[in-house]
Amino acid sequence: MHSRIVGTGGYLPAQVLTNHDLARRLDTSDAWIHARTGIRERRIAAPDEQTSDLALHAARAALSAAAIAPADLDLIVVATTTPDIVFPSTACILQAKLGASGGPAFDIQAVCSGFVYALAVADRMVAAGMARNALVVGAEVYSRILDWNDRGTCVLFGDGAGAVVLVPSRVPGIMSAHLHADGNHRHILCVPGSLNSGAVAGSPFVHMDGPAVFKFAVNVMVQVGTEALVANGVDAGAVDWLIPHQANIRIMDATAKKLGVPAERVIATVDRHANTSAASIPLALDEAVRDGRVIEGHRLLLIGVGGGFTWGSVFLTW
Ligand code: ACO
Repeated sequence: MHSRIVGTGGYLPAQVLTNHDLARRLDTSDAWIHARTGIRERRIAAPDEQTSDLALHAARAALSAAAIAPADLDLIVVATTTPDIVFPSTACILQAKLGASGGPAFDIQAVCSGFVYALAVADRMVAAGMARNALVVGAEVYSRILDWNDRGTCVLFGDGAGAVVLVPSRVPGIMSAHLHADGNHRHILCVPGSLNSGAVAGSPFVHMDGPAVFKFAVNVMVQVGTEALVANGVDAGAVDWLIPHQANIRIMDATAKKLGVPAERVIATVDRHANTSAASIPLALDEAVRDGRVIEGHRLLLIGVGGGFTWGSVFLTW
């Protein structure tokens, strides 16, 4: 048995924060941000919106597209770096908000690779017969872990959520998944703070060595994309759409070029969403499904990379 995606959904908070807005309060400019990252604007969650609220909107849209009722879900996996609270998991909170209790629900923490990790795990659970209707969500409120005075990091990220529904299928659907991590590189991108006896010990904000992240990300994205193509016995010509993690248009372009995928077959939302971490791939997928670019029979290569460092790919037939 295999699994396949039968519905997608996305949600972006209402507040738009443009580069020009940022330039009014920071020593930066739209020209600098756009030239270095491709970003023009990002969305910011309202103060009373939690990750589970963003996830709820995206999940409802995916369930509606799949024509599956929340009560029929028997697995919920949420990829997030910005959970509502320390515990219970955001997946359990989402489950309650959806009215979908009974099946397992858990979070996956692989930062910006989270959605690819979660999809790979849910795929194997569905293929093994452990679940029949699985919801996989990437959801983040990164705006809450940014130092808004640090122009080197705060301009890069945004908030949002994307979701897919997976069901069993005799034909794949998900054709392969490859996941990797190397914790030796954990310091180049991290939020080093921790909760300790009622206080935050260390910094609660994103810290990043930008140039090191750039080089590392391109290398491993190309490696794991190639691994997917080799495992499926195809070359880049077989990829109808490359959906890379939307970190930065220069990382995405360099990855596509090295893989041999032409720029017009790359789905990009980074200009409007910025980097929404675990939400970036499912948001881009949802947009491309809804606007008709992705159609039945298309082959999609999803590639994630994130803090840890973690990286992974999923190759699938739509
Ligand atoms: N506006 C204006 N100037 C800035 C800004 C800003 N927002 N941020 C940094 N600068 C300045 C720096 O202070 C530095 O000034 P200096 O030369 O006077 O010291 C100058 O710009 C150059 O800084 P660099 O960091 O060398 O700039 P670089 O060309 O490397 O671009 C960037 C920085 C965009 C962060 C780049 O390194 C990059 O894209 N890295 C990848 C990081 C990334 O995408 N992270 C997302 C999370 S990772 C993930 O999702 C996997």
